[in-house]
Amino acid sequence: MNANKTKKIVVLATGGTIAGLAGDASKPQNYTAGQVGVAVLLHGVAVDGLELLTEQVAQIDSKDMSFAIWQSLLARVAHWVAQEDVQGVVITHGTDTLEETAYFLQTVLQLTKPVALTCAMLPANAPDSDGPGNLKDALAWVQRADTKGVGVVCASQVHAGHAVQKSHSHQRNPFTSQDKVMHPAHLHVPSVAKVLACQQWPRVELVFNHAGADGRHVRTLIAHDAPQGWVVAGTGNGTLHHALEAALLDAQKQGAYVLRASRCAHGGVQSREADVLPHAGSLTAVQARVALLLHLMAQPA
Ligand code: SIN
Repeated sequence: MNANKTKKIVVLATGGTIAGLAGDASKPQNYTAGQVGVAVLLHGVAVDGLELLTEQVAQIDSKDMSFAIWQSLLARVAHWVAQEDVQGVVITHGTDTLEETAYFLQTVLQLTKPVALTCAMLPANAPDSDGPGNLKDALAWVQRADTKGVGVVCASQVHAGHAVQKSHSHQRNPFTSQDKVMHPAHLHVPSVAKVLACQQWPRVELVFNHAGADGRHVRTLIAHDAPQGWVVAGTGNGTLHHALEAALLDAQKQGAYVLRASRCAHGGVQSREADVLPHAGSLTAVQARVALLLHLMAQPA
């Protein structure tokens, strides 16, 4: 090992509001995400004793996140964290699907180095944009000696990648963390190589229980274009309207994997003796969907 080799932090940019621009900077709510390149985001940002490397992995509004971009991001993170002289990675990302990307990366990668996801709620040209501060905080978190795994750095807070949830649509600090989140033991995780090689991702649909949930859309999809998996955001402790439950049991009989979560923001689902469909424990419904995608991908061909 060359002891004099300068340590590096790699910044992977994917777009989001942090890279957004408003047509009129005095009306920052009217903006387009994913406009500013990573070099501009880092303009004037220096990190003592470390070299910054950058890559523009994508340039999107994260509502449009795709499996192909997840694969590119996974490939670049896996590549960089394997380099001895890389201290860690910072990913700039939109806030809207950040919790899904965070859960995906945290679950698939066995990280011994820090990977920070950071973001902004105001576009890059808003006079009081929160992006530069969040980016500096993310770089500082990666520089700390005691960090590893995925951390979401936003509004002076750090959330664990497997526990974070966007719980406010427009506050400067839109994230909260769930308590005691565990990946369910019955859901398998594919290798990094298997995720990268996957050309046709499983289809997992997400449906909600609600008043009058008659399961008609479930039956329509089963009849015409059946997905391999269903996550249902149930009421309370993952409970389902009897008509929706009957439709999902039919989907299960026909070979689909059905997983219950809760539509409540916190607490997940706890087991009960009368359970007829498996549940995702502490995971939120969107985390459960990522977990089920990975589980189905992990099955032998
Ligand atoms: C996005 O998720 O790309 C847009 C919204 C945001 O970053 O806050």
